[in-house]
Amino acid sequence: MFDASTLIWLVSCMLLPVINSLDNGLARTPPMGWMDWERFRCNIDCKNDPDNCIGEKLLMDTADRMAADGYRDAGYRYVSIDDCWMAKQRDANGKLQADPERFPRGMKFLADYMHNKSLLLGIYEDFGTRTCGGYPGSEFFLSDDAQTFADWGVDMLKLDGCNADKTDMSVGYPTMGFFLNKTGRPILYSCSWPAYTGSGAKTDYKLIAKSCNMWRNYADVEDSWASIYGIIQYYGKNPDNFAAVAGPGNWNDPDQLIIGDFGLSWEQQRVQMGMWAIMASPLFMSVDLRTIKPESRDLLLNKRVIAINQDPLGVQGSRLYQLGKVEVWTKPLQKKSYALAVLNGDNKGTPTKMTLTFGETRFDFNGVYAYNVTEAFDGKPLGIFSAKEKLQVTINPTGIFLAVAVPVPKKDLEHLWNK
Ligand code: GLA
Repeated sequence: MFDASTLIWLVSCMLLPVINSLDNGLARTPPMGWMDWERFRCNIDCKNDPDNCIGEKLLMDTADRMAADGYRDAGYRYVSIDDCWMAKQRDANGKLQADPERFPRGMKFLADYMHNKSLLLGIYEDFGTRTCGGYPGSEFFLSDDAQTFADWGVDMLKLDGCNADKTDMSVGYPTMGFFLNKTGRPILYSCSWPAYTGSGAKTDYKLIAKSCNMWRNYADVEDSWASIYGIIQYYGKNPDNFAAVAGPGNWNDPDQLIIGDFGLSWEQQRVQMGMWAIMASPLFMSVDLRTIKPESRDLLLNKRVIAINQDPLGVQGSRLYQLGKVEVWTKPLQKKSYALAVLNGDNKGTPTKMTLTFGETRFDFNGVYAYNVTEAFDGKPLGIFSAKEKLQVTINPTGIFLAVAVPVPKKDLEHLWNK
């Protein structure tokens, strides 16, 4: 007959037809938080590097900074541990356990610590036999692991896809979503499924959006401009029209913010913040919040840019057109407003000038006579523009122009005209 784990797997497969949508009510706007992976990786050397290793100190220090330095109040609420948190083996009962030396007080303690600061705890597992870093995976333990996370008070799960059979994912990932729901604890579900199955065959994003709150669908972000630009180009191309399934509850995830790390110039940091806002992307910082420079902190906390990202309409912005290395993106916002980004991908030479005519920006001028345009990073008013009026913008090499356009009611314009 079957062993216990095979049986669990078979039962999971039989349950699939009753798994409908994730339906956990979470992530009505793109989730925001912090994730250790890009900056701290799999540093498990707490003896020699106690401040930077994956252990409770790093997580607690980060939570302290998030609460004290304005990040939490700006919306960054998840503190998410990535790979390498576990002991190398499950316990005698088959339960996952945190590494006892690096997390001496366990995960429940850490979840309580976050909750006491009005923060949320995220955790990482893998759909396969082992995580990407070689720690115990959830294969054959989906139900048990979902319950363990709920018992610990975890608020988010990133489920990676290393060491797994790709053909199992379209069943296995929804099954884990089902088990998470079944715990009764609202747990944000971040899937890496399309990042593993995405290349080549057509990806069924509608199916993914039924099961996951957010999902990685491209290569891991690295601390470099080439990485950021590559991700933006992938999102600009929008294969299988993945942008269309984004909306309240479901988000494409281009990976963590590397603002404040080592690889990006100031202009390039602004590009990542601005484009992640336009792309309605989850905003997970991966940076040392204890040593971040004030200018990077201010960028991460920029209210106007965050508001573009968090707009309740939840539409993912898209690329309108490209002229050489300059590209224009728009994102519809609530109340018939828009965000507009012009990205200069050229890293040579001097700033580029570009003339925008608002009639050509996919803005809806139906019943709207003009838009009031404000630069988003600094809040500088740029004026009122009808469909025909032109705005000249200057964009630095590997830089961005970002603005918000709000329709002006006709009566306000009449007042201006009568002046
Ligand atoms: C994969 C993921 C990364 C990170 C690592 C951890 O590469 O895509 O985001 O979670 O695994 O090992």
